[in-house]
Amino acid sequence: MSDAKIRTALVTGASAGIGRATARKLAAEGVSVWAAARRLEALEALSRETPGVRALRLDVTDEESVRDAMARLAAEDATIDLLVNNAGFGQMGAVEDVPVEKLRYQLEVNVVGALRMAQAVLPGMRARRRGVVVNVSSPAGVASMPFFGAYCASKAALESLTSALRMEIADFGVSIVLVRPGAIATEFQEVAQEAGGSLAEHSPYADGYRAIDRLMKELESRGFPPEPVADAIVRAALASSPPAEVNAPIDAKATVALVNVLPSGLREAAMRFALRRLG
Ligand SMILES: NC(=O)c1ccc[n+]([C@@H]2O[C@H](COP(=O)([O-])OP(=O)(O)OC[C@H]3O[C@@H](n4cnc5c(N)ncnc54)[C@H](OP(=O)(O)O)[C@@H]3O)[C@@H](O)[C@H]2O)c1
Repeated sequence: MSDAKIRTALVTGASAGIGRATARKLAAEGVSVWAAARRLEALEALSRETPGVRALRLDVTDEESVRDAMARLAAEDATIDLLVNNAGFGQMGAVEDVPVEKLRYQLEVNVVGALRMAQAVLPGMRARRRGVVVNVSSPAGVASMPFFGAYCASKAALESLTSALRMEIADFGVSIVLVRPGAIATEFQEVAQEAGGSLAEHSPYADGYRAIDRLMKELESRGFPPEPVADAIVRAALASSPPAEVNAPIDAKATVALVNVLPSGLREAAMRFALRRLG
């Protein structure tokens, strides 16, 4: 059941995966949803098949695109009560190999983009003294993993900003929720491999790339579907008192619990062991 306070939501990265599933679930709860991403055709297809969902072209890295999207929402009298900052991707590659401009773009999408969107909706939420922002992080935000250093750094930065924002805004009636999805089969794995591109060629870390490549393929075929994460996002966002953090599904809960108790040396050794077995 939709909490009466959340009537309209803006979901970024809604053209695929977790974002698309979240847009669908919110609409099923009676929330009016603006589904945003760069691929308008995918959003329009979602809108056609899901009553209550409307398509919004948006590139979170582009100031002008964000301004245009906000202007469109204002023109439609849409008051955003819920922002799901879900748009994101994983830049695969060894820390030594990742070109600086790729690291910058990773941070631009996953960190700066999320901040840009939050800054666009927070003034309205503060003024109305109600609203929820959900930032989609990852267990990678609490424990770094090899060959995804740029991605892990972006999620760690997002977690840090999220925590600061939550403390700052608490007195204004706005809730900030951090969600860490587990291993979910979406376009994420393919996009990560594409972003890694030719970094593996001539790399001294070729064995590691082979292992991580296998891991991505494994997750693509055996990862959880996005619906349990979407359920967790919607439950948290519509709760009368939204939780600060949600790990979902079970693998994310287990990973974060383990990271919280394992000394970092042991955690790193376990990760290297697991990767070597894959390679
Ligand atoms: N899949 C997993 O195992 C997993 C695990 C933990 C956390 N996560 C996080 O969950 C979130 C969603 O990932 P997913 O698995 O659903 O991946 P996905 O299927 O690849 O979806 C990513 C979405 O982000 C959008 N996007 C990417 N760059 C964008 C930009 N510059 N502006 C606007 N939208 C952009 C994409 O849309 P367009 O290409 O149309 O713009 C797409 O809709 C990400 O933040 C990811 O880090 C995923």
